[in-house]
Amino acid sequence: MARDFDNQVIVLGVTGSIAAYKSCEIASRLVEAGAEVVPVLTSGGREFLGTASLEGITGQRAITDMFESVQNPDIEHIALARRANLFLIAPATANIIAKAAHGLADDWLSTTLLATRAPILFAPAMNTMMYQHPATQDNMALLKSRGCHFVGPATGALACGEFGPGRLIDTPAILEAAAIALCNEQSLRGKHVLITSGGNHEPIDPVRYIGNRSSGKMGYALALEALKRGAQVTVVCGPCEVRPPDAAIVVDTPTATAMLEAVNACLPQVDIFIAAAAVADYRIEDPPTEKRKRNGANLTLELAPNPDIAAHVGAARKPHQLAIGFAAETHDILEHAAAKLKKKNLDLIVANDVKSVDSGFGTDTTRAWFLGQDVEPEALPLLSKAELAQRLFDRVAILQATLPATNR
Ligand code: CTP
Repeated sequence: MARDFDNQVIVLGVTGSIAAYKSCEIASRLVEAGAEVVPVLTSGGREFLGTASLEGITGQRAITDMFESVQNPDIEHIALARRANLFLIAPATANIIAKAAHGLADDWLSTTLLATRAPILFAPAMNTMMYQHPATQDNMALLKSRGCHFVGPATGALACGEFGPGRLIDTPAILEAAAIALCNEQSLRGKHVLITSGGNHEPIDPVRYIGNRSSGKMGYALALEALKRGAQVTVVCGPCEVRPPDAAIVVDTPTATAMLEAVNACLPQVDIFIAAAAVADYRIEDPPTEKRKRNGANLTLELAPNPDIAAHVGAARKPHQLAIGFAAETHDILEHAAAKLKKKNLDLIVANDVKSVDSGFGTDTTRAWFLGQDVEPEALPLLSKAELAQRLFDRVAILQATLPATNR
């Protein structure tokens, strides 16, 4: 996330939820990432959390009352409404969601939400029954239809003793959603991006599998960048440490065959396909349903080849659908990558030096080249996976511009 929020003014609205204390962590992470955070507490927010911690963390006076602390309330709330780049309401109660949906303005936060044209992101936190109530669901749908953003809630044990959706989602997911809400770049609005990510677990028996070391970091970076550019994103995700961003649709697929099935189901609606998964090349056909017992003798496993998902998409895609792949190589990188570009009928391949210590599986950086059809390979500098994702979608924009107008 680094300095994702440099020069951004974020109004952090804290409303009356038991999760109000978590706003301190959110504020702290936003400040670390470069944001100027202005805390605003409703009367409920103030009941749960005093102002001192948020003021200490943000270095800003907390706004708590429409009339008490502000010299000229009419001017002040309008000024901040204009200056803010984002309103983040975390935690957001059913009450603030209802007030925002219906234009009620009876305190500083609800009044300023009406006055701002900055993006608004709600992170709901409430009792499950309240969250599932049609009134709350309708209010959220209304706000979404007006362009407001939502992240979470998470499902789990709630302070009231119930179990279900209603927990404030984790801070990293809130920061991710804030970065997406803040992004003005909408070059992929209306586009559907499908990404395969992670590795596979091919069963040997019910308790063992053949796997690989894919972390899912590249798939995560690609999904986040596509979301920031306004795309709808589906991630067909194999087992990995880094889950896709919360705003993506995620289809969990343990094996390569399950991955292919999920890709096929989604493909007709897709504009851009990116194969970032480290797909297992082989599987055991019909693995036993009982655990294999150890008898001291050598074990020979017969492996059958898995389908090549990228090649399948390359062959099946329509002219308006772009297909992009990665090539994980240890030697003769450009030759091997160029062969995969042709064989899999892709528009672009990112050749990756997975032998170098700062590139490849599990690292945060990548040494890569872009290889396209009929263009010279482009060597990229050492980049973070987030930077590589940005460069890749810049190339996608060029590729889209070259599609015939009817296919864009
Ligand atoms: N890929 C795929 N399905 C497979 C194998 C690979 O979709 N069964 C995709 C990967 O996601 C990647 C590209 O094809 O985008 C190249 O993958 P890579 O592992 O580099 O190459 P392979 O085709 O598996 O060939 P090899 O292992 O021989 O290098």
